[in-house]
Amino acid sequence: MIVTTKKLFEAAYGKYAIGAYNINNLEQTMGLFQGCLMSRSPFIIQISKGARTYTHKKMLEAMIRTADEIFPEAVFAVHLDHGDEQTCMECIESGFYSSVMIDASHEDFETNIAITKKIVDAAHARGIVVESELGQLGGVEEHVSVSEADAKLTDPDTAKEFVERSGCDSLAVAIGTSHGAFKFSGNQALRFDVLSEIQRRLPGFPLVMHGSSSVPQEEVARINAAGGALKGAKGVDADQFLRAAELGVTKINIDTDGRLVWTRVHREYFQEHPENFDLRPPGKVFMAEYAKFIAAKNDKLGSSGQLDAVRRMLGL
Ligand code: 13P
Repeated sequence: MIVTTKKLFEAAYGKYAIGAYNINNLEQTMGLFQGCLMSRSPFIIQISKGARTYTHKKMLEAMIRTADEIFPEAVFAVHLDHGDEQTCMECIESGFYSSVMIDASHEDFETNIAITKKIVDAAHARGIVVESELGQLGGVEEHVSVSEADAKLTDPDTAKEFVERSGCDSLAVAIGTSHGAFKFSGNQALRFDVLSEIQRRLPGFPLVMHGSSSVPQEEVARINAAGGALKGAKGVDADQFLRAAELGVTKINIDTDGRLVWTRVHREYFQEHPENFDLRPPGKVFMAEYAKFIAAKNDKLGSSGQLDAVRRMLGL
């Protein structure tokens, strides 16, 4: 069942975080639903601009609606990841998305507020909730590119004003993470000091952590052993998720780790079966491995075992 992120955040705040997973295709969709039911977790499906154009945005919608029928117990939000104004408006009007992210974090403070407010007004009129971002992450996320040197952490002093004036429902904060498989270069680290200052000024308000893949070293080693060339890849320690959740982080974004599972499965499969040219055998392995990966991630986020409580809260 599709719900807003707001409902999920009410259940999770201060206790655990909801996993927000990017999907692009059928195999990821099946693995995601299976994994979240294995761990009995509510979850957020994230759709990026790139995912909407990979095949066709209607294809993603049809897959997700069908998965909802195949797995009727699942409770999830459908969220636009890193939207610009035009894409947010399209998603708000589509009647499919329950949540959108407007990313105007590259604009100056006043412009970021003005753009966010415009999206909030349109979204709220249709019962849709809005995530906005203040501060800038390092690294590269599809069309979003911010050099490490320019990456700006969220300023706790302006976060409250931003939320009050923009009317957003949750806030993505830059606290040291970056998108992609190469995080924490130089002297970067997760900044819990900044996070707790933000929470002190915005008690009870849902915060979002982007760029939260763990980039497991074992996964990277297996990819490289099967012909990959990922040198120096590293990520966020998943054992820090619950500490972040206690400090108000209710949504944790994970994309890269899922891509690593896909890469490892397919590299190993075709290395072990050089004679094979059927896409289904590795696809089957991937769906099972992706489901296992999602369930294990939900354990780290603390969302495992929360599905029944969320269903009761929603009167299901
Ligand atoms: P990762 O690249 O760490 O998976 O982050 C994804 C993300 O934040 C999507 O918005």
